[in-house]
Amino acid sequence: MSYELEAAVSAARAAGRLLHERLGATLQVRHKGPADLVTEVDRQVEDLIASTLREACPTYGLLGEERGEQFVSDNPRWLVDPLDGTTNYIRGYPFFAVSIALERDAEIVVGVVYNPILDELYEAEKGKGATLNGRPIHVSTATSLGDSLLASGFPFDAWTNEIDNGQQWRRFLKLSLSLRSDGSAALDLCHVAAGRIDGYWELRLGPWDMAAGGLIVQEAGGAVSLVNGEPFSPYGGDVLASNGHLHAEMLAVLNNAP
Ligand code: IPD
Ligand code: CA
Ligand code: CA
Repeated sequence: MSYELEAAVSAARAAGRLLHERLGATLQVRHKGPADLVTEVDRQVEDLIASTLREACPTYGLLGEERGEQFVSDNPRWLVDPLDGTTNYIRGYPFFAVSIALERDAEIVVGVVYNPILDELYEAEKGKGATLNGRPIHVSTATSLGDSLLASGFPFDAWTNEIDNGQQWRRFLKLSLSLRSDGSAALDLCHVAAGRIDGYWELRLGPWDMAAGGLIVQEAGGAVSLVNGEPFSPYGGDVLASNGHLHAEMLAVLNNAP
């Protein structure tokens, strides 16, 4: 295990402990947008992750969802979502995670996602495969949409933006076994990687949501792209992740005119 992966794992575990401790406490909830929430715990956890990573890698940069750019360097730099699934966390809905990725020379080289409720730790390093709690994971083998369980998330600005995934959701509803929307992009990506679901797409995500999970899917043998089929980038704004077999078919459904 690389030094950086070790640092990311120890930061994610520390963050998970803090999330666990504060779960169910009375929180100060602030609206970033009508349906986009944040609490003081999001910021506390980001600060904890930042201090852990800075101690391990003092010269690296960090881009976090809550505090933005920190430290001087932008290469290498950490991409951090301290709490992916804030709405769930506030409601005690047990589906949220910590997401930490390392970007070096415009490539994501380390990805760690930790679900503190199930104590599930997903790890990947570029070219070295992906694991869940230390065991190798692989995407599913489903080859037809009719046998597939899919997931998506609803955009944070759905109240005000006409472009959403409503039509796409409806089309997949008629073609797949079923659909899930559980409110954590990072965990949805990891569930594709672990073969728990066969495909996942979402519009309007940030780099902290997708960077770690995107690498974990690729290293588990899956495919990731933008929703329009262009090559995946954590800065691309949206994502389609699948077991690879379903990718072309999902792209066709997603990009069909309504
Ligand atoms: C959110 C979650 C959710 C997705 C939202 C994201 P947050 O992240 O990933 O699944 O649908 O678009 O913003 O705000 O809880 O970190
Ligand atoms: Ca997020
Ligand atoms: Ca977050």
